[in-house]
Amino acid sequence: MYNIAIDGPAGAGKSTLSRMLADRLGFVYADTGALYRAVGLFAVQSGVSPQDAAAVEQLLPSIRLELALSPEGQCVLLCGKDVSAAIRAPEISKAASQVSAIPAVRAFLLGLQQKMAQKRDIVMDGRDIGTVVLPHAQLKIFLTATPEDRARRRHAELREKGTKIAYEQVLDEVKERDAQDSGRAIAPLRPAEDALIVDTTGYELEDSLERLYQIAKERL
Ligand code: C5P
Repeated sequence: MYNIAIDGPAGAGKSTLSRMLADRLGFVYADTGALYRAVGLFAVQSGVSPQDAAAVEQLLPSIRLELALSPEGQCVLLCGKDVSAAIRAPEISKAASQVSAIPAVRAFLLGLQQKMAQKRDIVMDGRDIGTVVLPHAQLKIFLTATPEDRARRRHAELREKGTKIAYEQVLDEVKERDAQDSGRAIAPLRPAEDALIVDTTGYELEDSLERLYQIAKERL
């Protein structure tokens, strides 16, 4: 099976590009951030603070989590219920980032992610896929862009959805999430030693996709 690991900070175009790359290669795509989001959602729905490590850990045995993967996309089932839309709420982004710093949560999700990659050609995106989840992936990409570029894209996306927010606030949030994801003790965001660093600053989506596709084609 061919495994492609794509890691990087929020807003570098990771999920869009990973999905498009998987599509073009005929691979399935797995967005592991969705799993952390589902755990964050479960904590919030259970009235537990996503920062309370002991309480979140106690919830884990009651969580039944499935990523239904198909070429059409990914569907997140939490205890049998489709939560694909609910996990995208802004407060759940924060909850996901908080629960992702809890070692028991990472251990809980590790096996699930590894199992997904065993049976199929896959493009998996996240923060620690090349370093922890799939250290033997045939291709590892670390996708990055300057905080300003990432904030600019996120700002445009939000405005398109009708959310009025100042660019400076988006930039602050991008920097805050970067610090949280890179500064945590467990599985901090960093490129694997054998990862190719791809900087998408100033590139259009289609150009970045072409670069990734060419890199993948050379290795297949
Ligand atoms: O990628 P996305 O923004 O959906 O991920 C939500 C949060 O989950 C991130 O802020 C990050 O803290 C966490 N995450 C992680 N490891 C992964 C994927 C996501 O810690 N492999």
